[in-house]
Amino acid sequence: MNYTGPSHKLLAFLTSLLLTTAVMADIKIGVVVPNSGPTATFGQENINGVKMAMSKIQKTSKQKFSLIVEDDKSEAIEATNAIRKLLNVDKVNIVIGEVTSSNTLAMAPIAQENKVPLFSPAATNVKVTQIGNFISRACFTDDFQGVVMAKFAIDTLKKKNGLIVIDNSNDYSKGLASAFKAEFLKNGGKLASEENLTYVQKDTDFQSLLRKIKRANPDVIFLPGYYQEVGLIIKGARALGITAPFLGGDGWDSPKLFEIAGPAIAGNYISSHFAPDDKDPKVQAFVKDYEKTYKVKPGAMAALGYDALGIVVDAIHRAKSSKSEDINAALLATKNYPGVTGLISIDENRNSKKAAVVLETTAKEFIFKNKVNP
Ligand code: PHE
Repeated sequence: MNYTGPSHKLLAFLTSLLLTTAVMADIKIGVVVPNSGPTATFGQENINGVKMAMSKIQKTSKQKFSLIVEDDKSEAIEATNAIRKLLNVDKVNIVIGEVTSSNTLAMAPIAQENKVPLFSPAATNVKVTQIGNFISRACFTDDFQGVVMAKFAIDTLKKKNGLIVIDNSNDYSKGLASAFKAEFLKNGGKLASEENLTYVQKDTDFQSLLRKIKRANPDVIFLPGYYQEVGLIIKGARALGITAPFLGGDGWDSPKLFEIAGPAIAGNYISSHFAPDDKDPKVQAFVKDYEKTYKVKPGAMAALGYDALGIVVDAIHRAKSSKSEDINAALLATKNYPGVTGLISIDENRNSKKAAVVLETTAKEFIFKNKVNP
């Protein structure tokens, strides 16, 4: 009459069966990107990179993965809706995204509260990973790229009379501008105007801004914005006879920049994560594969998407668990992951310490200028 023994054993057996199936079950990876709107090429390139990495991994991994991709239309509010849906409806194990700083900052508190890791391929604003221990990234931060470009202005271009033009609707632009400014002034640079020169995303008329730039007469202009407005500003500047070089950050890194600005884009410089003309055989293999699949050259966003997915899957393999906490712990323990954007280790602040590249714009594309180690 005593069934405690057998039923206990049966229960233990069933639990162990359940646990193994849990580990072997499909791991759901949510992805939030802007697939439309003013930063659409960021999302499109990023998802291309993510999918390319996924199809490669699926050829060898025994673990099953499914990707659930959400388009936030480049809007912060849509990004928060997207992550809520991924967490509450799809019950994803981890989220990759967003690729811009403002939208990642909007999503991060939700991921943190739900204790589901949020891994951004490309959001560089310093504050992103400070939101909490479930937020990490595959890229360097703006305090690094700001320093890289301030030094480039002063040491390489020998320009000391600078002007900074900020996208006031964009956390990335504001953070990167202040990092550049501090380093530029520290190294003997001066500002050609005390006035803050600003615009906001989706602006299309820059005439009054351009006249202010012309009046200030700087010998170098730092413009840490996104490709859409940057393209129009530079095109307008050259038409107005402003000849000083423009410097920017990774936010220019889009094939659309060249379409929007036309030949006026030649002769400017940015910091970014990846150079498609890098001689490294790993980079060249990736570029070749990507071109074969998508018929265009990959930019930084494609490379970061490819690496982000690779890092996440590597962490899942090491975690040997589908629990978000375990995946997060493995993710944060990432050391020397050999990415196409460099050797990637997640540091104690959950950022990736890695080199930046300085790229020069020709009329048609970005070309490699030099590499700067952290
Ligand atoms: N770093 C930018 C941001 O934080 C996004 C970006 C990364 C854009 C890489 C282009 C290439 O908003």
